[in-house]
Amino acid sequence: MNDQQIKDLLEQMTIEEKVAQLIQLATPFFKGAAGQITGPLEEMALTEETVQNCGSVLGASGAKEIINIQKEHLAENRLGIPLLMMADIIHGFKTIFPVPLAIGCSWDLELAEKSAEIAAKEAAVSGIHVTFAPMVDLVRDPRWGRVNESTGEDPYLNSLFARAFVRGFQGTDLQNEKNRVAACVKHFAAYGAPEGGRDYNTVNMSERQLRESYLPAYKAAIDEGCEVVMTAFNTVDGVPATGNKDLMRSILREEWGFDGVVISDWGAVKELIPHGVAADEAEAAQKAILAGLDIEMMTTCYVHHLKQLIEQEIVEEALLDEAVLRILTLKNKLGLFENPYRGADEQQEEEIILSEEHRQVARDLAAKSCVLLKNEAVLPLKTNQKLALIGPFAQNGDILGPWSWLGSKEETINLHHALNQKIDPANLFISQGCDFEMGTEEQLEEAVGAARKADVILLAVGEHTHMSGEAGSRADIRLPQAQLELIAKLKILQKPIVVVLFNGRPLDLHGVIDKADALLEAWFPGTEGGVAIADLLFGDVNPSGKLAMSIPYSVGQIPVYYNCFNTGRPKDASESQDFVSKYIDIPNDPLFPFGFGLSYTTFSYSEFSLSSEFMTASQPITVSVKVKNTGEVAGEEVVQLYVRDISGDVVRPLMELKGFQKISLQPGETKEVTFTIKEEQLRYYHSNLEFASDAGRFVAYVGPNSKDVTEISFELQK
Ligand code: GLC
Repeated sequence: MNDQQIKDLLEQMTIEEKVAQLIQLATPFFKGAAGQITGPLEEMALTEETVQNCGSVLGASGAKEIINIQKEHLAENRLGIPLLMMADIIHGFKTIFPVPLAIGCSWDLELAEKSAEIAAKEAAVSGIHVTFAPMVDLVRDPRWGRVNESTGEDPYLNSLFARAFVRGFQGTDLQNEKNRVAACVKHFAAYGAPEGGRDYNTVNMSERQLRESYLPAYKAAIDEGCEVVMTAFNTVDGVPATGNKDLMRSILREEWGFDGVVISDWGAVKELIPHGVAADEAEAAQKAILAGLDIEMMTTCYVHHLKQLIEQEIVEEALLDEAVLRILTLKNKLGLFENPYRGADEQQEEEIILSEEHRQVARDLAAKSCVLLKNEAVLPLKTNQKLALIGPFAQNGDILGPWSWLGSKEETINLHHALNQKIDPANLFISQGCDFEMGTEEQLEEAVGAARKADVILLAVGEHTHMSGEAGSRADIRLPQAQLELIAKLKILQKPIVVVLFNGRPLDLHGVIDKADALLEAWFPGTEGGVAIADLLFGDVNPSGKLAMSIPYSVGQIPVYYNCFNTGRPKDASESQDFVSKYIDIPNDPLFPFGFGLSYTTFSYSEFSLSSEFMTASQPITVSVKVKNTGEVAGEEVVQLYVRDISGDVVRPLMELKGFQKISLQPGETKEVTFTIKEEQLRYYHSNLEFASDAGRFVAYVGPNSKDVTEISFELQK
């Protein structure tokens, strides 16, 4: 249909039909469907007519199921308006990729885009039209259970990944590319900054900080053409995002020019009441529609009150019409009026989903997403060594992480199975050692017995998938006590200990890092995670991951992040260590900084130079550095460029990531890496919210992470 036909369709709709377009319901409301419930389901007092006119479905998947739902719906919908099928395909549909925080640690934008393309392919052939991803919330607090859904603590890196995921999900021609899905960037905005790291809690920050650090990644997704935006549960400067007119109309629509669909998170419209900005559902409906919210997910404020609010002239019908028009336009962009079943195809489903090709990409990405944090000459392992594989993740295939949709541990290669492919099973001694949070003396004794037979102890420990994710905040982010006891018990044997960590957040590694001779951070590596880890442990793949989120020294430091401010009494720069910004009981620095990750080889940086020490808006400067592989094996290095603005209108971060390049080097090989620094990269939000750069002195840093850097000064002249 063309735009005029869409408008004509809108004209034909009754107000009841228009209002029903704005509600999204989970699958159990629809004939012949199952589906996943992802939030509190409540009594909704819906009429049959409302369901028949409903605009979109949450959580359906499977070609057969979706074709059924759509067919039943079209048979009853007076104007033949098809349903939108939306679901949470966050890091894979059935081929599950590492959680996004792990993907962030790969610094591999192409592979990230490829993973989204594959997820879209599997989702589209199963009938899904829109995915509730990418999640681009900037995160600095690992107590929050959802940090694993984000690509980390840096606005620039998050923005690049946001674009890559949107490109992968949507492609360039949604109308005709039936193996793509529309993306939905979330959670708008700043959901990753809840006080105390407690999910759904208050977010309190200045508009300046919101714009400087938290909004860039959402805008990047919009600039990449993302079709849908989901509002967050939290408040933004005292107003819940879902009823926040400044956020949705002023910034998102007027300033950024977004004319797509805005959907609430589950129940977030009705939650305006407990938030305390709406006295009842009618006021919640009024505030949400005035703020620019189009689709209400799984509550009925719109359905039960919008018509009356319009009849009472409290809300203009034009607001309802514009919301419905955006939803119809999205359906039209997806070609649903011509083909309501779009890419759904039961036969192709069999061929496409979890294909060997998809598994290979998942394996490659998982290997690049793991981060080698410590290695005291115990890795890579040798195939003739006797190994004791011990821990709750030794034989557990549940390494997919939160939001793994149809991924299943039965189709996941766990570490035990993967190691069996690497060494003689007779040299592999398995013992669980303890459960995730509990252990027995018998389990410990059995583990010690297995360890005594081995040359190297391989500990597979971490958080159960339910210890992070939505509503999964933790105040104590250490490993559970039972696992710490297991590690301590095994340490007594004085054998090399390699720890592989499976977790949904950066952990407080007290009791782990001091006892491990090597530590590989695997996060939740997905369907091929076990294979990827085995490839890394035996050196078939050289680790190249770099942290996209700092790992704290202890929970007491939080929030701890690399692009922080210097303060007036910086600890490191002062002679006296008395009245400076410090803790008296722990260091200021994180245990492992943003950008950190080891390799089986080593790299040296030299000849760091600038094309000039002066730059202007019309004359950027080039930064170059030579990087050499000084080790014995080939490897990949992420060369990182940071910049510091020495003096601004407001305080500026100690450093900000402005560029990176992931390069491969053979042993002894040297490559020159160059970056260009342009004036627009030096702009920031001033105290009056003007986004501009200032003339003055800057420092450029280059290095393998945000700590071990070489610096050079330059000046921006106006
Ligand atoms: C959940 C999540 C959101 C998800 C939505 C639909 O509450 O906050 O990320 O997309 O509900 O499942």
